[in-house]
Amino acid sequence: MKNILVTGGAGFIGSHLCITLLENNYGLYVLDSYLNSYPKAIKRIKSICNINGIKYKNKLKIFSGDLREKKSIENLFNFANNCGESIDSVIHLAGLKSVYESILNPLSYWENNLISTINLVDVMAKNNCFTIVFSSSASIYENKKNLIDENTKIVGLHPYANTKIALEKLLNDVFISDPNKWRVANLRYFNPIGAHESGLIGEDPSVNTNNIFPRIIQAASKQIRELKIYGKNWPTIDGTGIRDYIHVMDLADGHLSALSFLNSNKPNIFNINLGTGKGTSVLELINIFEEINKVKVPYSFVDRRKGDSAIVVADNSLAKSLLNFVPRRNINSMCRDGWCWHLKNFCN
Ligand SMILES: NC(=O)c1ccc[n+]([C@@H]2O[C@H](COP(=O)([O-])OP(=O)(O)OC[C@H]3O[C@@H](n4cnc5c(N)ncnc54)[C@H](O)[C@@H]3O)[C@@H](O)[C@H]2O)c1
Repeated sequence: MKNILVTGGAGFIGSHLCITLLENNYGLYVLDSYLNSYPKAIKRIKSICNINGIKYKNKLKIFSGDLREKKSIENLFNFANNCGESIDSVIHLAGLKSVYESILNPLSYWENNLISTINLVDVMAKNNCFTIVFSSSASIYENKKNLIDENTKIVGLHPYANTKIALEKLLNDVFISDPNKWRVANLRYFNPIGAHESGLIGEDPSVNTNNIFPRIIQAASKQIRELKIYGKNWPTIDGTGIRDYIHVMDLADGHLSALSFLNSNKPNIFNINLGTGKGTSVLELINIFEEINKVKVPYSFVDRRKGDSAIVVADNSLAKSLLNFVPRRNINSMCRDGWCWHLKNFCN
């Protein structure tokens, strides 16, 4: 059995990824500080495993700690060594992720995202672990083309993107320092939404979110009065911005494909888009959400936000050809599963 360290494993993407990895018989070491998540996510992972007959006992080891403190990572690797196990790869999701918050508080973003990763890579190398899958973001791209491939110009429009750009560069430098050892995948996510089909885990940020999908859920469930749509005169079919939404369980599968590719090829580094290649406008997303879930999503229009763009959709041909990865779930499932998660968890 291969063991993987999942940093940020209690978070939105991390918790879904843990299910997929356990289902595929990996042993997991999860490290999270619960800065933007709750320990109950781990209980929910175990419940889903129990319901779906996925074995997790002796395969799921949970550590509470902050990656900014190198000791917390060293302790985890030492624990594995003392159990006679090795950590073969790392999937590094832990980080702060709000664009808006990063503009207000850039230092905390640089501090958290950079220091965590430097500590992690240092401890990995000292423990002969040279395989890392890193959560990067499509927000690093210049938004001038409609279909964005991996060679699109990289620009830092805000501190959050700047930290992702810096971390990709850092991993590239580390790779170059020993290209016969390191295996690195920078996964550039587009817009992950939805939830596990059980409705037991989903996006549950402990800090305020500006992401559209949680805001749609908040508007539909009357937690906020209405959804604010930024701009109604973009050059798109209905005037609202078009984005590439990917089901979070498909995103989890993308990690599995990237990891298998890294492990079955010689040491390598690659950057790859994880998206569906299909665009959906804000109004289309709202309409589908309303129709599938039989709820109303009140909304109003406000001015465009600085730095936003009309259309951001992945050219995902590299993920198809290199990793053999094709997302399977459609927007309807994303809307249904996301709402089901809300109903099961916040309406009792
Ligand atoms: N969700 C998105 O839309 C999206 C898009 C592109 C990229 N990403 C990236 O994917 C990764 C995961 O995103 P998510 O949506 O699951 O976010 P999330 O906030 O739900 O999960 C991140 C997890 O990392 C933990 N964490 C943060 N800093 C930590 C630290 N110093 N030490 C230990 N744990 C720490 C948090 O407690 C949280 O559980 C992030 O790196 C994010 O930047 C997310």
